[in-house]
Amino acid sequence: MRITVIGCGYVGLVTGTCLAEAGHQVVCTDNDAERVQTLKAGVVPIYEPHLDGLLTSNMRANRLSFTGDADSAVNSGDAIFICVGTPPKENGDADLSAIDNVARLIATEVHASKLVVEKSTVPAQTGQQLKRVLSVYRRDSAVEFRVASNPEFLREGSAVEDFLHPERIVLGVEDENSEKQLHEIYRPILEAKFHCPVHWSGCPSATPPKLVVTTINSAELIKHASNSFLAMKISYANMIADLCEKVGADIKEVVNAMGLDPRIGPQFLNAGLGFGGFCLPKDVQAFVRLAERSGVNFNMLKEAEQVNKRRIDLFMEKIRQALWVIKDKQVGILGLAFKANTDDIRFAPSLEVIRRLLAEGAQVRAYDQEAMDKTSAIFPQVQFCRGPHDVARDADALLLLTEWPEFRQLDWTRIYELMSRPLILDGRNLLDPATMMDIGFEYHSFGRPVEKPLPQLMPSASAMLDSSPSISQQT
Ligand code: UDX
Repeated sequence: MRITVIGCGYVGLVTGTCLAEAGHQVVCTDNDAERVQTLKAGVVPIYEPHLDGLLTSNMRANRLSFTGDADSAVNSGDAIFICVGTPPKENGDADLSAIDNVARLIATEVHASKLVVEKSTVPAQTGQQLKRVLSVYRRDSAVEFRVASNPEFLREGSAVEDFLHPERIVLGVEDENSEKQLHEIYRPILEAKFHCPVHWSGCPSATPPKLVVTTINSAELIKHASNSFLAMKISYANMIADLCEKVGADIKEVVNAMGLDPRIGPQFLNAGLGFGGFCLPKDVQAFVRLAERSGVNFNMLKEAEQVNKRRIDLFMEKIRQALWVIKDKQVGILGLAFKANTDDIRFAPSLEVIRRLLAEGAQVRAYDQEAMDKTSAIFPQVQFCRGPHDVARDADALLLLTEWPEFRQLDWTRIYELMSRPLILDGRNLLDPATMMDIGFEYHSFGRPVEKPLPQLMPSASAMLDSSPSISQQT
């Protein structure tokens, strides 16, 4: 099928490239001329594993192309996927102006009937507005627009894998033709039969995804409800971590056992600095606003948002407790991206931590595998290092802010020797406290013991303790 993708950001690039990989003829367009030029040269302007290889191979096979000419692009596809940004406004609402612009462009420039698919994350009922704009601005009354919602569930860092091997494909449709057309577009993925050229680890290619056909309103709500639930899960784990610190329990032990219950599941229960990125924080805000406007009290979600904001305060308090005076201290940072396997720093907790450290007069040094260029544009006063050892050299404290698995494998004994004061504040609960403390570090994380566990009591000693009178018996 011929497909047009409008918007060449994360979602648009992954959607366009993967639909081309699935055998369709795809034209992508964007109003950022520089971005289009870069893409025409086969260069992917973002870091996303496997995307560059698939993009260039599909361009070479003439299935994927990029153009700045939006008018011709919208006319070339039988289906148009809208993948433009919906950033948060000051009040938390999703800014839908890009969707509105694209809708008016399609309505005025298109000369034949089309299926218009919302792929961008939008609040419920946007599809209804989209239909209205398309019909109000339509120039040619013979042209018919059908609208569908097809939300994406792509995680940055594994977006290509998520697109080609999803657990579910949600189609919000209002007529049989749209459903058929979308089914045809996704057929190779639904059948999980097409040859996938990227044999990355964990590829669950044998399991075909579930197809979920709903109304447009439901499809839109599914996306916001899913991301908000994930955010609540993280905030819940973070509150349990705080409680663990108070009662002397270990958050890892608690969530490991909780996650064994299939009704709960093990994922998204990692406590630490909380969630960042361009999706979860903005989707939670937009969902809260949608609930408010609809007269539904969703305080539960508002609290999840507040819990997340307080993670940074709590982390700063831990730094202050350990370091005492922050001014003039050499603070090393490992990890800047909002999570591992991405160069994305949008709404990354690291940014707020750095801002506060600099405001308190710390000397900040940092390292990240992928996100240093983007961060240096915001914080020119930070010294960016070639590797973790340079960050650790003469540092008074080392902060772990992103869960890059590579940080686990570092030579921590060497790092211990390099530091001026062997102090680690692990904002992602990435390292093992006992191992760190054995090396000699003062080690702090979230919801885990700060002291080494006591050695197991000898049976005779524990028997003695059991038989000794308790304080209440004595008094
Ligand atoms: C998210 C959704 O997962 C995806 O389905 C949707 O389409 C887009 O938004 P993404 O933004 O790529 O994907 O990030 P995600 O993997 O969800 O992580 C979000 C944040 O939560 C990160 O900052 C991560 O570090 C944090 N996180 C995640 C935790 O703090 N604890 C966890 O247990 C999991």
